[in-house]
Amino acid sequence: MGKRIGILTGGGDCPGLNAVIRAATLTARGSYGWDVVGIHNGFEGLYEEEYVDLTEASVSQLLSRGGTVLGSSNRANPFAYPLRLPDGRTEIHDVSAKCMKNLAKLGLEGLIVVGGDGTMSFGQKFLAQGARIVGVPKTIDNDLEATDYTVGFQTAVEVVVEALERLQTTAESHERIMIVEVMGRYAGWIALTAGLAGGAHVVLLPEIDYDIDRVVEAFHRRHGRGVSYSIVVVAEGAKPKGGTLAVLAAGDATKQEKLGGAGQRLADQIIARTEYEVRTTVLGHIQRGGSPCAFDRELGTRFGAMAVDMVALGQFGHVAAIESGKLVAKPIEKAVKKLKLVDPNGELARTARSVGIELGA
Ligand code: F6P
Repeated sequence: MGKRIGILTGGGDCPGLNAVIRAATLTARGSYGWDVVGIHNGFEGLYEEEYVDLTEASVSQLLSRGGTVLGSSNRANPFAYPLRLPDGRTEIHDVSAKCMKNLAKLGLEGLIVVGGDGTMSFGQKFLAQGARIVGVPKTIDNDLEATDYTVGFQTAVEVVVEALERLQTTAESHERIMIVEVMGRYAGWIALTAGLAGGAHVVLLPEIDYDIDRVVEAFHRRHGRGVSYSIVVVAEGAKPKGGTLAVLAAGDATKQEKLGGAGQRLADQIIARTEYEVRTTVLGHIQRGGSPCAFDRELGTRFGAMAVDMVALGQFGHVAAIESGKLVAKPIEKAVKKLKLVDPNGELARTARSVGIELGA
């Protein structure tokens, strides 16, 4: 049997994952003559031994396709895995030893793990058990410290910007305040970047607890100048001063908490204080769907090819990253230790304030 590598996509999907899979497959086969094993549904497929051979033919036409052809799961934590018992109940077990056995059976040169902080932290634990792991950072949230950009982020921003432009015309016609709730979890990258690019008037971020009186004051100022509508971007992780996160469902050992409701909460706060007409749009998973933009296709391709080179070089325990436009290999801890958050006084936030965007504090 010739040499081979494995690849899996874990956590929430995003546009650009297929570009990574395609590039890794083409590079492994074309440059190194290695076979490629695709593992279905993240670490779940490693535990359940659900694999597919990836070839030039199976990855053709993948560059522009959204989602991941390998499937993904954000419940597949191999260290706290929900096992279904014969009586129908579910019990949480550490199945990492079985995953390690399956990895050994596969006899891979290396395993490329494409994921966000959760998937990377599982990768790190497997690394400690001797697995040959290389990471590719992806998440629309762009919250991984290791890299300037993660695969999927720019496409999500494009989706939000298009939504803001569409909402602007209807907001203007009806003289309304339009609130758009966007994803990003505990980081405000999507909200702030899209707010800047889409001409939002108020942008509320997880990193800056907002003062509702200040937000309302911004509307009064605009309306005082004869403008009769406003566009507000609120990150799902934004909260008012002294308030808490808007959570739809609590997390546990097998899943993260589910955020949601920040937009409606803000609408209620505005309605309670003003006469303005307010509408809320929650963009939700639209931000994760569809075809990747050119940036994510390119970044996914560069990361996918680089990850294979990293396996060839034995750079295990590292993730492919981009820093000031250049590809670099960064230790996996850099991708999991702490979230990359928007600096409330950094250049992006300062630019937003300079152009008159209200950040709520
Ligand atoms: O981490 C990516 C992300 O899309 C977050 O922005 C969002 O909070 C979360 O995943 C949604 O997760 P799910 O797909 O489980 O609803």
